[in-house]
Amino acid sequence: MDFTPSETQEMIRDTARQFAGRVLEPLAVSLDREHSFPRASLAEAAELGLLGINVPADYGGVEAGAVAYSLAVTELARACAATTVAICVSNMVAEVICAFGNEDQRVEHVNKLCSGEYVVGGFALSESGAGSDPGGMTTRARKTDKGWVIDGSKLWITSGTDAGLFVVWARTSDAPGARGVSCFLVPGDAPGLTAGKPEDKLGQRGSPTTALEFEGVEVGDEALLGELERGFPIAMMALDGGRIGIASLALGVGLAASEFANRYAIERKQFGRAIANFQAIQWMMADSRTELEAARLLVLRAAWLKEQGKGFTREASMAKLWSSERAFWACNRALQMLGGYGYTQDFPIERYLRDVRVTMIYEGTSEIQRIVIGRDVVRQFSA
Ligand code: CAA
Ligand code: FAD
Repeated sequence: MDFTPSETQEMIRDTARQFAGRVLEPLAVSLDREHSFPRASLAEAAELGLLGINVPADYGGVEAGAVAYSLAVTELARACAATTVAICVSNMVAEVICAFGNEDQRVEHVNKLCSGEYVVGGFALSESGAGSDPGGMTTRARKTDKGWVIDGSKLWITSGTDAGLFVVWARTSDAPGARGVSCFLVPGDAPGLTAGKPEDKLGQRGSPTTALEFEGVEVGDEALLGELERGFPIAMMALDGGRIGIASLALGVGLAASEFANRYAIERKQFGRAIANFQAIQWMMADSRTELEAARLLVLRAAWLKEQGKGFTREASMAKLWSSERAFWACNRALQMLGGYGYTQDFPIERYLRDVRVTMIYEGTSEIQRIVIGRDVVRQFSA
């Protein structure tokens, strides 16, 4: 077992780290306060190859693999989770088109996602009545002579205001639940497609999350991604990989919070000594360090399995479940270590805590991750 990153992995990680420090970190506070979309940062991310990290070079990616992707996302999220989630979703969209698209679709769309021509990609699965249960979706695509007409609405779509391309799931037959769902590629400027007002969220406020309304949106036959009525497994496979990204993101926020608090505890004096000398504070440091190291190992193992072409569904869910929950606790402990100062906007901890919370909800709640893991355990013990 070798825990040493390869030269490529180090290079991607360092590129992300430098970009995060130079570009994302200085903007993170204003993005959060002004709810602005980080368009210029995303354009620079594209130039550095960060919108196609695990995408073949033939389609404009840097082909660095899933482990490099995870390492990069963790570095980016240390600085700004809001920009990072847009980057994660865009990478996920590029990867799903590479995996399920035909050659024309890859050439047409993946290059534009990686180069930033599409700004970013969006992933439109959830609806108001179908979040944890996307099989309950009601958005429909009707066949016509020229292609398809999509009607319905999606909710909670990351980068809904700005994405140049959406992967959209819609029912194409009356088959119930997960069956009868197909997947389409829809340009962000398609006539009949409108984005709602960004939700006013607790955290990740520089990442606009919107509804999407589809009113008679026409797309050609070439918009169908993968096989007709096999769209649901495509969503699930994309989310398996996406969950590694969100687990990596949560880890980055947790590390940023706990490292900030550790440095603070060395400086801050009470009762005539640095608070880091108190055992109560050291235990908080010890718990966060241990739990985040465990998260790092789970995340990297899931990424490694993906890179090796092995099954990784359960491992990705375990990584996401553990990393998001323990990163939340690392942020919460960090706030406690700063006392009243941690509760103010003078320090970044309150933002980390707000930003990390949603990682236990999106790309499948913690309860859904437990369902995925639990089903797999039952399958294993029933075999
Ligand atoms: N890989 C491949 N295929 C899979 C799969 C996987 N991981 N998981 C399920 N499938 C297939 C099944 O084999 C089945 O295929 P068949 O029709 O051939 O039998 C089909 O998909 C339906 O599977 P299930 O019966 O297991 O489906 P279900 O309705 O019970 O749902 C679930 C399972 C795990 C709960 C799923 O609904 C789920 O993951 N829910 C959470 C949704 C989610 O994560 N949404 C995230 C939206 S994107 C986002 O959030 C982005 C962001 O924030 C930034
Ligand atoms: P519900 O499904 O209504 O869940 C409510 C509660 O019930 C949760 O605690 C849940 O765990 C629990 N629950 C539900 N079913 C079960 C069960 N069977 N067993 C036990 N407990 C259960 N979606 C996209 O498609 N694309 C995006 O880009 C995107 N970005 C997002 C960004 C943000 C900021 C947010 C908040 C959400 C985003 N989502 C996106 C949607 C996200 O994936 C859903 O919010 C999530 O899947 C949960 O769905 P829900 O909000 O409808 O909650």
